[in-house]
Amino acid sequence: MTVSWILRCVECGAEHDGVELRYRCDCGGTLDVEHTFPHHLTRELFDARLGSPDALDRSGVWRFRELVLPLDREHIVTRGEGATWMYDAPSVARWTGLASLRLKHEGENPTGSFKDRGMTAGISMARRLGMTRVAVASTGNTSASAASYAAIAGMRAFVIIPDGQIAYGKLSQALAYGARTLQIRGDFDDAMRLVQEICDREGIYLLNSINPFRIEGQKGIGFEILQDLGWEPPDWIVLPGGNLGNNTAIAKAMEEALSLGLIDRLPRIAVIQAAGANPLYKAWHGDGTLVPVKADTIATAIKIGNPVSFTKSLTRVRRSNGVVEQVTDAEILEAKAHVDAAGIGAEPASCATVAGLRKLVAAGVIGADETVIGVLTGNVLKDPGVVVDYHRSDAPHANRPIPVDANYDAIKRALVR
Ligand code: F0G
Repeated sequence: MTVSWILRCVECGAEHDGVELRYRCDCGGTLDVEHTFPHHLTRELFDARLGSPDALDRSGVWRFRELVLPLDREHIVTRGEGATWMYDAPSVARWTGLASLRLKHEGENPTGSFKDRGMTAGISMARRLGMTRVAVASTGNTSASAASYAAIAGMRAFVIIPDGQIAYGKLSQALAYGARTLQIRGDFDDAMRLVQEICDREGIYLLNSINPFRIEGQKGIGFEILQDLGWEPPDWIVLPGGNLGNNTAIAKAMEEALSLGLIDRLPRIAVIQAAGANPLYKAWHGDGTLVPVKADTIATAIKIGNPVSFTKSLTRVRRSNGVVEQVTDAEILEAKAHVDAAGIGAEPASCATVAGLRKLVAAGVIGADETVIGVLTGNVLKDPGVVVDYHRSDAPHANRPIPVDANYDAIKRALVR
């Protein structure tokens, strides 16, 4: 059976069959899904699905199925991903210097991160291809998501994670959902290199974002942002960058929405990297080539020195007239204190978004009155260790827990102190 998409190499432009089992071109380049879209794709079509009880319509990925991956229903594995809240965040806006700011909280996905959007597409493609075993390398969230979706699909999941470098919330999910969890004595970049080799040689389906269908699912964030805004594109979409799949996905969604007439201009994309894991930032402000770094940051989710989607990301951020910024761990933690204290909460990597935003506003790159959507990528519960350490420290916004004797007067005194 023929399908309505092909795989296109982002390096040499070669075309490959849409259901061929491959993640790279013969030249080594990564692959993009290129769709032939049907003609009837209108804002009204997608808006009409908002009130529908159909599981596919309720998913913030499959609601846009013609734009994401037109699979047969029997192949789709969904647990209602997406449909996340977009918060108006006035206190965070003030801190960044913006007149207003909205935060799209991808930590409200079923396993607590945006990865579920890509995973539902990747695991559905696994089912379409008849695969029974899947694997990922991960800084934590991808492994949590892959473990859950594989269990739901009745597949075996293998996850390869850097020993001692992933947050407990994420490790506990991979274990709980039953993935075979390999903690390697190495970093994420080692894990990423090894998982590609193992999948190729053992015939296991690779579900990292080098798998182009993962990117298609994550486009759902972009489409949903547009739908949340009544299809009025914002001036900026700001998000953290690690392996660089997510900014690629959102930028691709915007380009496709523009080509279909769903929007009339492209938002600019701002990618924020941790200063200790900043190969895109260095390339952007250098000669545009990838020089891998030895990554080090408290934001373990984005502790990545050799990102697989580098070329895709650089190309699309450029086409969006975007920017790349970097932030220190101290800036990430301060931003996180503001996001958390606003009652919204997000994991450290997510808060790179807000830290970067503050820098870009201060530098005059983003205007105070521009419309900005910040993407929070993961849930506050993912990394309780960082939160508790911060609030027990002397940090400027620490909300220290107070030890109190177990009697009425002691508690009353502590209330007012
Ligand atoms: N934010 C969070 C919370 C993440 O988990 C990740 C990536 C990113 C941002 C960066 O997104 O890689 O598409 O640029 N986490 C991956 C993982 C690498 O294994 O969970 P990216």
